[in-house]
Amino acid sequence: MTVPSKDDLLLEVKNLGVRFAVKRNGFFGGKSFLHAVDDISFDLARGKTLAIVGESGSGKTTAALAVGRLVAAHKGEVQMDGKDFLALSDEDLRIARGKVQFIFQDPYSSLNPRLRAKAVVREPLDSLTEKTEDEKQEIIDQLFAAVGLRKEQQELFPHQFSGGQRQRIGIARALATEPELIICDEPVSALDVAVQAQILNLLRRLQEERGLSFLFISHDLGVVQHMCDTVAVMYMGRIVEYADRKSLFNSPKHPYTKALLSAVPSVKKRGAPTTERIAIDGDPPDPVDLPPGCRFASRCPLADVSCQKSEPELTAMSDTHTVACHFAQAD
Ligand SMILES: Nc1ncnc2c1ncn2[C@@H]1O[C@H](COP(=O)(O)OP(=O)(O)O)[C@@H](O)[C@H]1O
Ligand code: SF4
Ligand SMILES: [Mg+2]
Repeated sequence: MTVPSKDDLLLEVKNLGVRFAVKRNGFFGGKSFLHAVDDISFDLARGKTLAIVGESGSGKTTAALAVGRLVAAHKGEVQMDGKDFLALSDEDLRIARGKVQFIFQDPYSSLNPRLRAKAVVREPLDSLTEKTEDEKQEIIDQLFAAVGLRKEQQELFPHQFSGGQRQRIGIARALATEPELIICDEPVSALDVAVQAQILNLLRRLQEERGLSFLFISHDLGVVQHMCDTVAVMYMGRIVEYADRKSLFNSPKHPYTKALLSAVPSVKKRGAPTTERIAIDGDPPDPVDLPPGCRFASRCPLADVSCQKSEPELTAMSDTHTVACHFAQAD
């Protein structure tokens, strides 16, 4: 990975934070905050893919929703094309919305079941563009062909498609406004392995043809290993490791990343440094009442007393690899 120049950057996220007010029970029960996304920063270059990985509950979806302004950030910046996306006025936001589109995990629940497939794809054209009827139909025809669906399938309803085909409709819909950034939140997690590969191939081909940038979220490092240029590993709202793909897969440094990688069979076979599955036992801390020190300490095989005292900062191991662990070492 070469560090992209400012001109190549599509997205710059700085110190983003999202917190949810939660009510606690009991005598002292008052308002507390769950910091679902806690001060994270990352960049995405044009035409590239940044993967955000981590177990369920680590804050991936909340981070993605905050980048797209679908949940409110309480702190931080999202620069899109050099503009402060979080500060756009309503009209500028409507225009910018077309440039950032989402693909969700479960295409069935994210597609309106009462709309025919062509109407699902048409919706963003109606709300975000000023195209004529003929132009819209031409775009819909092209998109159906681009995602590998037949013209007559435009008339069908979502329940008449398979899971993979529904995700193709979701992709066509996401492409309708010619976005620059597509946020893919676990786009293949609900699909069979064979269908996963087809959808990943389709996404890669569309990226190449259209110069798209992807923010690609997955709980599975195996899914992103052929799909990303850089990887951010999240744990309990924080990025704990951030690296280009090669460094992350060949030389993972955070104990949490190593454990996640050890669970990916195809990485093991390729002779990655972890050949045995590393179990991460122990419970994660209460996200509303985080302990001092490293958030991973309660589950980390390397934890010692220093880990409970101070929280490790993300520290550069090389130009393209940062890690938040007191014991991480450069190659
Ligand atoms: N609307 C919400 N209100 C309260 N807590 C939430 C809300 N959405 C997510 N959370 C919490 O924020 C944390 C991160 O969730 P999420 O972003 O969905 O993680 P992931 O996508 O990595 O599974 C979890 O602890 C989750 O329970
Ligand atoms: S700082 Fe300590 S507890 Fe945290 S990941 Fe590193 S070794 Fe484990
Ligand atoms: Mg999620």
